Amino acid sequence: MFSKYEKLINEADDLSLLEQIRVEIFGKKGILAKEFAKMKDIPENERKAFAKSLNIQKATLAKLFEEKKATLEAQETKKRMREESIDVTLFNGRSTSGALHPINDTLSRIIDYFVSMNFAIEEGPFVEDDFHNFEALNLPDYHPARDMQDTFFFADNYLLRTHTSPVQIRTMQRSRPPIRIISPGSVFRRDFDLTHTPMFHQVEGLVVEEEGRVSFSNLKFILEDFLKYMFGDVEVRFRPSFFPFTEPSTEVDISCIFCQGEGCRVCSHTGWLEVLGAGMVDSNVFKAVGYENVSGYAFGLGVERFAMLIHKIPDLRSMFEGDLRLLEQFR
Ligand code: PHE
Repeated sequence: MFSKYEKLINEADDLSLLEQIRVEIFGKKGILAKEFAKMKDIPENERKAFAKSLNIQKATLAKLFEEKKATLEAQETKKRMREESIDVTLFNGRSTSGALHPINDTLSRIIDYFVSMNFAIEEGPFVEDDFHNFEALNLPDYHPARDMQDTFFFADNYLLRTHTSPVQIRTMQRSRPPIRIISPGSVFRRDFDLTHTPMFHQVEGLVVEEEGRVSFSNLKFILEDFLKYMFGDVEVRFRPSFFPFTEPSTEVDISCIFCQGEGCRVCSHTGWLEVLGAGMVDSNVFKAVGYENVSGYAFGLGVERFAMLIHKIPDLRSMFEGDLRLLEQFR
């Protein structure tokens, strides 16, 4: 009697159609309601059998309906899972990987070199006292670095270190020779233009041994080797210079990496680029830390200068602006 409806349920292929069928069968005005309404016209003695048969058919339809509903719902879920799933491994076309900042990249290359040459790494405080930053380094009172113009001072003779050289003093004070260290870190000077920022980074080097065991040729060898490691096949030149804490002192140049020594704007048409300060540790410095019968060499370099040369960055200030357009080039 209800085979038409059984067929409808069987053939329903989506949930909203099935819902319409449910209303047609089980709804208040549905086919079952209509059949049950006939009960009152049925003779008393047949009524029970009629009701029983109707209930059985109702149960059959209900079971069929529930099964169909479950099947369609399962299909629906499967379909949604397929359509809405996200492949987390899928390349989205714009994901980016991070990169070392050019200063950190350059610094780690510098550190790699010196660690491979058996140098240890030492650090010192940014807030220094006058003794470690100036006095012990043989920087006399009249030295321009002591001027308010160049140094950030705090009260009571404290200041922001203007170079990494105070770490030389601290290291010699807390240990004994042989000493073989580099000290990378931030330094601070009151300066701001195309080639100067109030904070920048230096790497200091210090080697101290028993008198006579370290000479200028050791210094010359290590710096030449280091500069070729950093810049490739360049010429290295040592010029006589002056630093209060070294004697003799030298400034070290490499042949210009932009014009191969021909002369260009970057090297001011000299063919050379200055990259390092160095020298044999001045005896007054040893005196300040109570060392006797020792000799040693020291050197200092600016990390930003190296990074700018290696990566051909024209404006120092751009390294501290955090502009992604610059940083993305170092991936
Ligand atoms: N401290 C010097 C500077 O800041 C660099 C330097 C270090 C020179 C060690 C010689 C020896 O300019």
